[in-house]
Amino acid sequence: MKFFHKGLALLCTALLAASTLLVSGCGQGSQADNRRVIRIGHAQPQNHPEHAAFVAFKEYIEGELGDKYKVEIYPSELLGSQTNLVQLTQTGAIDMCIVGNALLSSFSQEVDVFNLPYLFASNEVFDAAMEDPNVTEPIFRNTQKAGFKVVSWVNVGTRNFYTVNTPINSPADMKGLKFRVQQSNINVRMMQLLGANATPMSFGEVYTSLQSGVIDGAENNELSLTANGHGDVCKYYTYDVHQMVLDDVIASNHFLEEVKENGDLEVFEKGFKLISQVGKEKCLASVREAKEKAEKEKGVHFIYPDQKPFVEACQPLYEEVLAQMPSLRPIYDAIQVYNKEYSEKKAKEGGK
Ligand code: GCU
Repeated sequence: MKFFHKGLALLCTALLAASTLLVSGCGQGSQADNRRVIRIGHAQPQNHPEHAAFVAFKEYIEGELGDKYKVEIYPSELLGSQTNLVQLTQTGAIDMCIVGNALLSSFSQEVDVFNLPYLFASNEVFDAAMEDPNVTEPIFRNTQKAGFKVVSWVNVGTRNFYTVNTPINSPADMKGLKFRVQQSNINVRMMQLLGANATPMSFGEVYTSLQSGVIDGAENNELSLTANGHGDVCKYYTYDVHQMVLDDVIASNHFLEEVKENGDLEVFEKGFKLISQVGKEKCLASVREAKEKAEKEKGVHFIYPDQKPFVEACQPLYEEVLAQMPSLRPIYDAIQVYNKEYSEKKAKEGGK
């Protein structure tokens, strides 16, 4: 599968280069189209909220600057796995892509802070903290050393454990089971602390690995059960809410410099914000529908466990990570302030 994707990505790069020649006006007989083609890759199917978010971006950019730019979106891993997409963006072969935050940590380690399990006390905290540039900017600016910048992000719900045939009510039920995780050190350690075995692999390989029994389960949002079909095989889904589904939109440094030189950065920045907004709007409804569909049509059982034992098992991870990357401490502390505010607000509302 990996080789397939690599080969495919190379082929796609060649095709992209050929299409550039045509689009840039070398095609015979057609009127020259000198618009700059912006290529965006993603790994999700076209019925996923992230695709809708990119369509909104395309419409906005072409509406504002359609005489200069044309936006092309390549969904469904057409240009390769998420790792391939980051590599293509790094070199400027494509301009933008969206990938899981965890995966990005192998290119820019500090982004892993947002994958710390049970870090955000709620969706509300997540939104507030991620809107705060003091929390995100130092981390996202740093990715430029790797050849790209995180210019936006999409929250597609929460990450929870699901298995083929073992109901998970507490970490004890996970003992010895093999779970696919996204490729990040924090995820591997999280599974160790919960007593399970972590199998890092790319998202596109999860379905067949579940089907063939290579893994016993995975962890993701409800859309994975439907849009990605994992609910065909997995029948137990446990809301332990260990992470938010944070997907980062990255743009290559080359591309950002180019639009800046053209005086168009401001419009693009509005477009980047739009991706986050539309993604979020679409996400809530999509996740609700996915849950209903998984329950009714695929017979998936949803479990609401006590979160406490999961959280307690993962406690050592915070200090381990902060000792290893002390620069993350101010970010971690700022998120704790949001958590505190939220729990105080909740307590007040509860006391009314
Ligand atoms: C989510 C997320 C993807 C990510 C995937 C994964 O579906 O939206 O970007 O790749 O999780 O677990 O790898």
